[in-house]
Amino acid sequence: MTDTQKTATLSFDDTTVELPILSPSEGPDVIDIRKLYAQANVFTYDPGFTSTASCDSAITYIDGGKGELLHRGYPIDQLAEKSHYLEVCYLLLNGELPTAAELEEFENIVTRHTMIHEQMVNLFRGFRRDAHPMAIMNGVVGAMSAFYHDSTDITDPRQREIAAFRMIAKMPTIAAMAYKYTIGQPFVYPRNDLDYASNFLRMCFAVPAEDYEVNPILSRAMDRIFTLHADHEQNASTSTVRLASSSGANPFACIAAGIACLWGPAHGGANQACLEMLREIGTVDRIPEYIARAKDKNDPFRLMGFGHRVYKNFDPRAKVMKQSADEVLDLLGVEDNPVLQVAKELEKAALADPYFSEKKLFPNVDFYSGIILEAMGFPTSMFTPIFALSRTVGWISQWKEMISDPALKIGRPRQLYVGDSFRDYVDVENR
Ligand code: SDX
Repeated sequence: MTDTQKTATLSFDDTTVELPILSPSEGPDVIDIRKLYAQANVFTYDPGFTSTASCDSAITYIDGGKGELLHRGYPIDQLAEKSHYLEVCYLLLNGELPTAAELEEFENIVTRHTMIHEQMVNLFRGFRRDAHPMAIMNGVVGAMSAFYHDSTDITDPRQREIAAFRMIAKMPTIAAMAYKYTIGQPFVYPRNDLDYASNFLRMCFAVPAEDYEVNPILSRAMDRIFTLHADHEQNASTSTVRLASSSGANPFACIAAGIACLWGPAHGGANQACLEMLREIGTVDRIPEYIARAKDKNDPFRLMGFGHRVYKNFDPRAKVMKQSADEVLDLLGVEDNPVLQVAKELEKAALADPYFSEKKLFPNVDFYSGIILEAMGFPTSMFTPIFALSRTVGWISQWKEMISDPALKIGRPRQLYVGDSFRDYVDVENR
């Protein structure tokens, strides 16, 4: 960022303050209000952070108006087409695309850290079989600090690196184990001769009773889903990870906090909610009824998979996801999948309706991801765990960027207090 030497003048009552304006490499300028309270004895007020930059970051940039998403400057559609998830992980973590040798070393390290501590298997058995896989992931990831205590000192760059590798490598194993546990099947160990996405599919769908061959088209689609969900600026779960990390909490606890936040249906839980909505709509002729409900101010119903805080154009990830959906469903011979038919007609009807175009509500990443995952055989309860698995590298990259900033301060927002002013205690007999 550069100090533009320009300032914003804020005047009210008998107070005037000059606030520096900082310029980014992409996107709008920011007004630096760090000294505002000290100089003018006022706070700013922005509950949903709609106009607030919480940090400076060099990892991901979104242009909501253009529908553009860049990871270290590279557009998501090019990365989805030409790269693959572990290479994107390297890019997010290190800032540059790896050479062939760097990529090989990175992939070897990740591949050889995919097994979890065998004692952790007992953690799964503490859950009911009908536990949501996100509840299991949240618990198991939070417990990782108890098993990998030798990589919890965040002041040690080497321990930070080991923790990062452990989480990127082990998250698919934990997600697959959470799935196997809920369906009563035995855990399947990772294999070092498989790529990251194929390993995950095999850990989810293989059974000891027979060999399992990963379909290359499905593993490519799986890898693309991982890539499309890898990072997304300061979204709610990433902001949660940053805030938790600002207190110096260990990285496993901070990533568990991110998993908890992602679970919400307004965020990462939207892919599960979207598929459940498409199933509830059921047939194309019922779409007008649901469009009307989404527009009705008195009805809390919203079109899951539509709208975005930042994108006021198509989510570029949704475009790639839609192309993948067609490929996977075509391969599986389910291109006439009723859910996909409803999805396609719903998208068409919503985009033709002025309510959605005026409010700039377009399909987001969650609109098509659930359809692909369902076609691949995942239950809806596994959609958000897959999102969490994919986003782990984004959370860790943002955590790494923040922790290594010498200017790091604990995040501690203030408030607009609307409660009672000072009053004395009243004894119960006098109330
Ligand atoms: C993700 O932040 C990220 O980057 C997130 C994410 C990531 O990669 O990390 O991209 C992943 O979370 C994608 C979003 C998934 N969520 C959903 O699909 C749930 C449905 N979408 C909505 O809940 C909503 O659009 C949000 C939460 C995504 C965004 O909400 P905002 O920015 O707070 O916008 P808003 O709620 O103020 O809505 C603006 C207007 C409102 O109407 P008015 O009050 O102005 O009259 O649009 C309406 C809303 O009622 N609206 C919708 C709608 N989304 C917003 N109306 C119908 N259906 C919808 N989906």
